[in-house]
Amino acid sequence: MFVREGLDAPAPITSMPGVVQHSQESLVKGAVEAVDAGVGGLMIFGVPQHKDERGSGADDPDGVLNVALRRLHAELGDATVLMADLCLDEYTDHGHCGVLDEHGNVDNDATLERYRAMALAQAEAGAHLLGTSGMMDGQVGAVRQALDGAGFVETGILAYAPKYASGFYGPFREAVNSSLSGDRASYQQDASRTAADALAEVALDVDEGADIIMVKPALPYLDILRAVADASPVPVAAYQISGEYAMVEAAAERGWLDRDRVVLETLRSIKRAGASIILTYWAAEMASRLD
Ligand code: PBG
Repeated sequence: MFVREGLDAPAPITSMPGVVQHSQESLVKGAVEAVDAGVGGLMIFGVPQHKDERGSGADDPDGVLNVALRRLHAELGDATVLMADLCLDEYTDHGHCGVLDEHGNVDNDATLERYRAMALAQAEAGAHLLGTSGMMDGQVGAVRQALDGAGFVETGILAYAPKYASGFYGPFREAVNSSLSGDRASYQQDASRTAADALAEVALDVDEGADIIMVKPALPYLDILRAVADASPVPVAAYQISGEYAMVEAAAERGWLDRDRVVLETLRSIKRAGASIILTYWAAEMASRLD
């Protein structure tokens, strides 16, 4: 779910029909409805009004995501698993997942400092599980250390381990009003990499303290998902991302696909490939349908 600062009513996301940028109020309402429908958890993304080069809104206790987490936690308590996207791209004016050095390159280690601060802000606001999606080297270890150091030993880490540089993230850029002009090829995985490379990423993240491993995107990477599910010592999740959602919705809108049938079929394929947790924009709908 997306929550955008400064909105007083939900705003549609054109490339993701049926998904909206929520206001703080409509987010709480939508979250309660989703939990009542039976979803297992909520992943929240913040869309700040002001972006800057270091992504200041990300660790500001009054930043849009942290405010939302606090409100959701007050409303839902432990009735659901409250997850927070731990990444800077929604908050930076250049749109990258980290801060930049003087040459304009993403500075891995300086970014880890920002992630530590974000982790503390999100844990303090009530998130149960932090989704480290920025793909910096050492991010899981850095976040784990920060959390433990502040006594948040129960706050978990959902580690995006093999996360591929993908064209399927397209609609997400609109969803978070992204200002990215280049790509993320220097920190996300290359799609031509083998499953063995994915397993190496998984091993590093597990070693650093990942509680759950996530493979992303899902449908174009089911082979990777199967390999990870077979090898991972921790539960494995898959993220059915914005472009996967959009292509089904768009084709269905034209009458080219039987929407309900195809949605279920894609989710079945992801489950069959070994995911025990699926992040999907169809979660609330499917929770009702699968009742
Ligand atoms: C990073 C992040 C992204 C997505 C989830 N977390 C953007 C990216 O990596 O480019 C994409 C999710 C989707 O496309 O549905 N904050």
